[in-house]
Amino acid sequence: MIRTEKLSKDYGNNRGVFDLSLNVPKGHIYGFIGPNGAGKTTTIKVLCGLLRPTAGKAYINDIEVRPRHVRQIKKLIGYMPDSFGVYQQMSVWEYLDFFCAAYRIPTKQRRKRVDEALKLAEASYMLDYQMGSLSHGMNKRVALARILLHDPQVLIMDEPANGLDPHGRIEMRKMIQRLRDYGKTILLSSHILPELSSVCDQVGIIEKGRLLANGTVKDITSSLRKQMVLSIMIQSDAATAASLCKDFPNVKEVNTSGNELRVVFAGTRNEIAELNETLVHQGVRIIGLREEQDDLEEAFLKVTGRHDGEAS
Ligand SMILES: Nc1ncnc2c1ncn2[C@@H]1O[C@H](COP(=O)(O)OP(=O)(O)OP(=O)(O)O)[C@@H](O)[C@H]1O
Ligand SMILES: [Mg+2]
Repeated sequence: MIRTEKLSKDYGNNRGVFDLSLNVPKGHIYGFIGPNGAGKTTTIKVLCGLLRPTAGKAYINDIEVRPRHVRQIKKLIGYMPDSFGVYQQMSVWEYLDFFCAAYRIPTKQRRKRVDEALKLAEASYMLDYQMGSLSHGMNKRVALARILLHDPQVLIMDEPANGLDPHGRIEMRKMIQRLRDYGKTILLSSHILPELSSVCDQVGIIEKGRLLANGTVKDITSSLRKQMVLSIMIQSDAATAASLCKDFPNVKEVNTSGNELRVVFAGTRNEIAELNETLVHQGVRIIGLREEQDDLEEAFLKVTGRHDGEAS
């Protein structure tokens, strides 16, 4: 539904976006993560037809994004920029009605569309509020309602959770998930990593204009991982089990805490099964064994080669 092929937008001085290829299937949420200046907004603007690429192509629902197709593309996309214009004097209703007109929604249908969009953004109560009186979080909800007015299939949101408090972020995530459940295809950007891992079907890690990793959070984290941490819950003596583990090939470290063993392991999945068998044969009673997941933040640091304390 959203696709780019070797897309580049070169601003000169090695700034911009280079050779970026991504593909977001219908009904998926794609998270575009990267530090400030990575090229998120640039890519988004090219996708929305607001910037011409220097090379490569972008497609929305297989329609190439180019000036000739701008009308079709605009119908397909709801674009939420990272900052929005000021319409301080207008009421929320006037503001949304104005955008209905811009989307050429017939006058008779506008009130219904505005009500529906505000409902989806959980902002119905704001209908008569003045735009200038809205808090940042309220503004984001109205911005979300605005991009839903023409019922687009694709939502492209640049830093939708930026500036929201923790509660606001959770609410925004829930709304985004609900929109995906309605069948929307969503691309969103963020420089805040944990925020994305729970909602996205796929993520792309971008830095200095280049896509460094692309796939599901699980794929990215497991492809980067050279060793894993196994958590083994047992019912028998932890010290005996720990020493059995330590003798097993590729076990790098074992820590015990109560009836849990945490095993740093550099072996294969087959070897996990063998470790399990060995323990059982030696009389260790295992209640559970699971692989601890690396989080997206860890993956990001590995991909970009950054370390703690470095500015992002
Ligand atoms: N109009 C422009 N002219 C020249 N360079 C630009 C222009 N817009 C962006 N850039 C440069 O392109 C790079 C990517 O910028 P972009 O705004 O796409 O980053 P971003 O990932 O959205 O960052 P942020 O998280 O700060 O929003 C940066 O180096 C930026 O300085
Ligand atoms: Mg940006």
